Amino acid sequence: MSSASAEDLVWVPKASAIAREAGALLREFFAQGVATEYKGDVDLVTAADRTSEKLIRERLAEAFPEHGVFGEEGTRERMEGEFRWYVDPLDGTTNFAHGFPQFCVSMGLEQRPAQSTKGAALDQDGTIVAGVIYDPMRDELYTAERGRGAWLNGKPMHVSRIEDLAESLVSTGFPSRKRHDSPNVHFYQEFTLRSHGVRRAGSAALDLAYVASGRLEAFWEFNLNPWDTAAGILLVEEAGGLLTDFAGGAFQLNSHEVLASNGLIHAEMVALFKDMFAGRNLAPIPTPQEFARRRAERAAAAG
Ligand code: IPD
Ligand code: CA
Ligand code: CA
Repeated sequence: MSSASAEDLVWVPKASAIAREAGALLREFFAQGVATEYKGDVDLVTAADRTSEKLIRERLAEAFPEHGVFGEEGTRERMEGEFRWYVDPLDGTTNFAHGFPQFCVSMGLEQRPAQSTKGAALDQDGTIVAGVIYDPMRDELYTAERGRGAWLNGKPMHVSRIEDLAESLVSTGFPSRKRHDSPNVHFYQEFTLRSHGVRRAGSAALDLAYVASGRLEAFWEFNLNPWDTAAGILLVEEAGGLLTDFAGGAFQLNSHEVLASNGLIHAEMVALFKDMFAGRNLAPIPTPQEFARRRAERAAAAG
């Protein structure tokens, strides 16, 4: 990671203006309140998600006519080119729909290997070369370009220097689809017992931005999509952090598992994942039934 000045940046200036414009639109929808529809069981979508994606798609086409766009709400344009943007027009829709002010716009630019532009699989991973995340409620803009550094509102940002999980604040998220398939509540419990706490704030992109800016030491989640992670992973890397899958192997945009940290607590987290997947070292806590029995015993003893 090196630090460049704003004039050296290739994609971030225009992408930042687009993210800010989409964020302003989300702020207006948020103030008015929006009707909510269901995409799945508890998978929500609003007019704000769709209007924001439309705006971003149009602005990207003006700013970067050659670039492709892959958006959560269905945009698939110019997918065969060298560059394509992964767009989450509103990350944190559940929060948004409930009036909980934690959500953002996330845009990550992928550059694909030259040969894959002709004939190779369209889902083949390239390299994320630019990332922009905008939190409209705090007016916080997180930006990065590969090899050039990462910034929060134009100031260089760095991951935290905390070295132990026991002194860390970490975060995670839970899926809104196939919720019964997720084992994450076990990981939530275990990390809660071994850290200062686990936050579940409801926007994966902001979670990654918070690791990059040193507000959190780490973030993990099962089953994310490229539009959730593309921008955030570059922020973390350019801010000096580390990204892998849960086994400590190379992170892939399509691998659906992300473990991001300040680098210093990474090995400790990977070791805990390994233990947990092998069923080792789980801290016992009372079941609700055991707890109720003890409570009843205490009440009886107190007369
Ligand atoms: C969701 C958020 C949430 C995460 C979910 C995502 P959405 O994205 O990032 O924090 O836990 O897995 O699907 O649906 O609000 O764009
Ligand atoms: Ca998302
Ligand atoms: Ca979204």
